[in-house]
Amino acid sequence: MYLESLKLINFRNYDDLHIEFNKNINLIVGKNGQGKTNIVESIYMMSIGKSFRTNKDREVIKFNRKSLYLAGQYKNNYRNGFIEIIIDKNKKGIKLNKVSISKVYELLGNLNVVIFSPEDLMLIKDGPRQRRSFIDKEISQIMPKYYNILVNYNKTLHQRNNILKSKNIDYALLDVYDESISSYGSDIIIFRRDFIKKLNIVCNDVHKKLTDNKEDLKIYYKPQILVNDNDSKENIENKLLNKLKLSRENDLKIKSTKYGIHKDDIEIYINDFDIKKYGSQGQQRMASISMKLSELNLIKNEVGEYPILILDDVFSELDETRQKLLINNLKEVQIFVTTAEKNHMNIFKNNEVTIFNIDDGQVVKIENGGI
Ligand SMILES: Nc1ncnc2c1ncn2[C@@H]1O[C@H](COP(=O)(O)OP(=O)(O)OP(=O)(O)O)[C@@H](O)[C@H]1O
Ligand SMILES: [Mg+2]
Repeated sequence: MYLESLKLINFRNYDDLHIEFNKNINLIVGKNGQGKTNIVESIYMMSIGKSFRTNKDREVIKFNRKSLYLAGQYKNNYRNGFIEIIIDKNKKGIKLNKVSISKVYELLGNLNVVIFSPEDLMLIKDGPRQRRSFIDKEISQIMPKYYNILVNYNKTLHQRNNILKSKNIDYALLDVYDESISSYGSDIIIFRRDFIKKLNIVCNDVHKKLTDNKEDLKIYYKPQILVNDNDSKENIENKLLNKLKLSRENDLKIKSTKYGIHKDDIEIYINDFDIKKYGSQGQQRMASISMKLSELNLIKNEVGEYPILILDDVFSELDETRQKLLINNLKEVQIFVTTAEKNHMNIFKNNEVTIFNIDDGQVVKIENGGI
């Protein structure tokens, strides 16, 4: 799928902008603070109805203006579509092909977008929380049901922790929560286990391409209990319940739940060593990229076509060889690259590319210009 054009009125530092994009590579170039990320932010908003930078819709309205209008014309395998979003101080309206939709849910799947920011390069170095969040987002994008189970799990966990903190412990209620936590938890473990299995295949393939076949990448799921490939929900649920029972005494002491899917992690190995411990920075970054890019293939496998890829400020973080490998492996994907540096333009020599020079909310478009 790809985005053909974008219209922004009063969005961040844009007054009234209409631009048409390239089906393949769109290079958004400009100095810091000129409005590069603002453009990709608006593209992302059309995929899930909200920004990736803020949860407060009104923040994206231009300073001193009351409302904004944002629209995009896109094409996917099934249709030509038109998405419009209007935000004013109190409400947000979304239209799909001129018809208002009442739930953001209806917008999902029209324009799939994967965004990659510099923080994503830290995926391997960061703590388990970031890796869990990566896995959770990936699974939710492909299977929205997973997200609901996760919300229920977190709610129940919160309630259990409240009991652990209370003065008079209600043991009967604690038993009830242990059961529902184990039930939600076992569903989540199965989703994660099966997803990581799929991710492994795709990711190893992507990583081989990006490293010229030199590195073999494996991802291991590390839950808090022993989980086998063919463990049933019932098995896993029992194991979780046992774990909760065994740790109850300690949980009461520390007033929180020590074990559970909220503490899961993954380990990433290259050629059989743990790269969090032994990998170079470059290897860790590259593995993070492979994991993130696998999302493109997983979405393609699921919905039949590639999503749009946004590389916000990550391109200049890679060396030239890796930049080339990345671009050459994404021929069928519409890509938006934002960068403050002009010096790596030659990477795109053999591609169809349009450059957008951004200067204080003004855009100058150059078709295959300068390359
Ligand atoms: N609601 C808003 N109204 C008007 N201008 C805004 C609003 N929000 C942000 N800006 C302006 O947008 C600019 C930042 O835009 P953006 O984040 O897209 O920059 P950038 O080109 O990506 O920069 P960098 O290279 O540093 O990432 C800033 O000048 C900021 O003042
Ligand atoms: Mg930026």
